[in-house]
Amino acid sequence: MVERPPLTILVEPMTLSDLADVHRIERVSFSVPWPDDAYRSELTGNRLASYLVARANGAVVGYAGIWMMVDEAHITTFAVEPAWRRQRLGETLLVALLDLAIGRHAREATLEVRLSNLPARRLYEKYGFRPVGVRPRYYSDNGEDALIMTTPPLAGSAMRALLDARRAALATAPAPIGPSAGGTHLDTGEAAS
Ligand SMILES: CC(C)(COP(=O)(O)OP(=O)(O)OC[C@H]1O[C@@H](n2cnc3c(N)ncnc32)[C@H](O)[C@@H]1OP(=O)(O)O)[C@@H](O)C(=O)NCCC(=O)NCCS
Repeated sequence: MVERPPLTILVEPMTLSDLADVHRIERVSFSVPWPDDAYRSELTGNRLASYLVARANGAVVGYAGIWMMVDEAHITTFAVEPAWRRQRLGETLLVALLDLAIGRHAREATLEVRLSNLPARRLYEKYGFRPVGVRPRYYSDNGEDALIMTTPPLAGSAMRALLDARRAALATAPAPIGPSAGGTHLDTGEAAS
């Protein structure tokens, strides 16, 4: 059997040339995707926003973003291409996003997630996010509640230790193997997590 060369995974700032791929992933990840010009406006007109993409051998396979709201990093969107899920790309993106937030001196990171979105909730819980409240009927398509999740203080010893442990685990985890037929979770609401 011929061994495939290992994939190179990089997380980098999103650029305008990534937008077609980002919107393609957006449409297959969310049943109420952001409109076609939304990410362009975010990149060109929102100085509070920062967006990252994960690339596998150069191709965009996931993306995520934050808005810095004073000293809070609000995760606005987060998605991995379905065929690339369950290969730790979500974790890799989340670590990069939290590092970005720490670099911007965010006190904590926060987000909204559908109560029914267990894959995302499990991912966020793994990185220290805990439920702190509910926004009733937050999602317009089906009136589902949003769970508000927040990290402990990002500069605190508990969060730093958790991130160090998770980084070490990621460094020794099996490398992504590439697109698969698995991982077909479709969020049923707005991309704004
Ligand atoms: C949520 C999402 C980004 C996860 O991406 P991913 O690359 O598959 O995640 P990873 O492979 O890095 O998984 C990391 C952890 O997330 C959790 N997780 C991911 N997918 C899961 C699933 N289908 N079921 C349960 N837990 C899951 C687990 O805790 C997992 O850790 P483990 O493997 O040790 O159990 C992806 O499912 C996605 O894009 N979903 C659609 C869009 C969406 O819902 N975005 C979030 C909006 S708030």
